[in-house]
Amino acid sequence: MENVVQKKRILSGIQPSGDLTLGSYLGAIKNWAALADEYDCYYMLADMHTITVRQVPADLRRHTLTQVAAYIASGLDPEKNVLFVQSHVPAHAQLGWVLDCYTMFGELSRMTQFKDKSAKNADNINAGLFTYPALMAADILLYQADLVPVGHDQKQHVEICRDIANRFNGIYGDVFKIPEPYIPQVGARVMSLTSPENKMSKSDRDQNGCVYMLEKPEDIMRKFKKAVTDSDACVRFDPAGKPGVSNLMQIYSVATGKSFETIEAEFDGRGYGDFKKAVGESVVELLRPIREETERLLADKAYLESVYRAGAEKASYVANRTVSKVYKKVGFLAR
Ligand code: TYM
Repeated sequence: MENVVQKKRILSGIQPSGDLTLGSYLGAIKNWAALADEYDCYYMLADMHTITVRQVPADLRRHTLTQVAAYIASGLDPEKNVLFVQSHVPAHAQLGWVLDCYTMFGELSRMTQFKDKSAKNADNINAGLFTYPALMAADILLYQADLVPVGHDQKQHVEICRDIANRFNGIYGDVFKIPEPYIPQVGARVMSLTSPENKMSKSDRDQNGCVYMLEKPEDIMRKFKKAVTDSDACVRFDPAGKPGVSNLMQIYSVATGKSFETIEAEFDGRGYGDFKKAVGESVVELLRPIREETERLLADKAYLESVYRAGAEKASYVANRTVSKVYKKVGFLAR
């Protein structure tokens, strides 16, 4: 008999709530492309998550389509990876509801992202914002994912997903695979260029702190030239004492593959001006082919449509099987 070894499965996603940032590229997407041969990969556009914060409908559609193109342009071959839009697979909403009923008020109240987002959107602290981690757990558990490659800020959400899955399995038997977070060594926490104590985020009020994946080279260079450093004039890795410089070193290290020691030696005795210019240029060169390819793909809407339609079909097949199993376990009468 043929010995078929089942590949481990990966699921991850990004919210198309705006233009993709350098943070989501370095913390997540950049690492995804390399996993395709070894794993069975599902990458989602988490559009259902975005409406926990008010969106402009036409912008959400545009960002979603652009993000499909950017996924492909970043090296996610649609033949090797399942690329799909969350709202195209109704199983996410179906399992999301079930998991809401196995997720505790107390544990949701402790989520850092909920606290941050409710502070930022004080006029719209809706129930979806609160139960968001249960929907994210559904995203992961539907695919029986082994690994969830994310940046550091999503670690807590993967942990609550594990807790929910263990609770459910404890009652009904082994229904869900318990997933592990998969967080890169460098690049998992890209910080704002203007306030390096905060993570780089598209919702940042100061747009100079956030670099976008598809941004024009001159804008990227301007932002890096303005990046906050310190008065030390020494390129040295020390996240606590030198957060701005250390953040730039991390970005440069991921963009060029150079170690921190090599970077320190490269800029020994040179000012921050040279350093910031070099970091900016490395990011421009890293992103240039992706931007150009994204623009090329966006001109071919029919192709993009064929990719996300095929993705939804493949994703639904796997996700529906989990929903059927769960519905049976909790006692819903079969149709
Ligand atoms: P989102 O859309 O905020 O971010 C997408 C991915 O990018 C990473 N990331 C960063 N990494 C390093 N530095 C940064 N400054 C930075 N900013 C963002 C995030 O850690 C994430 O990996 N809830 C998720 C989306 C989601 C999801 C899922 C992820 C929905 N369902 C299931 C994994 C599995 C979110 O809002 O990520």
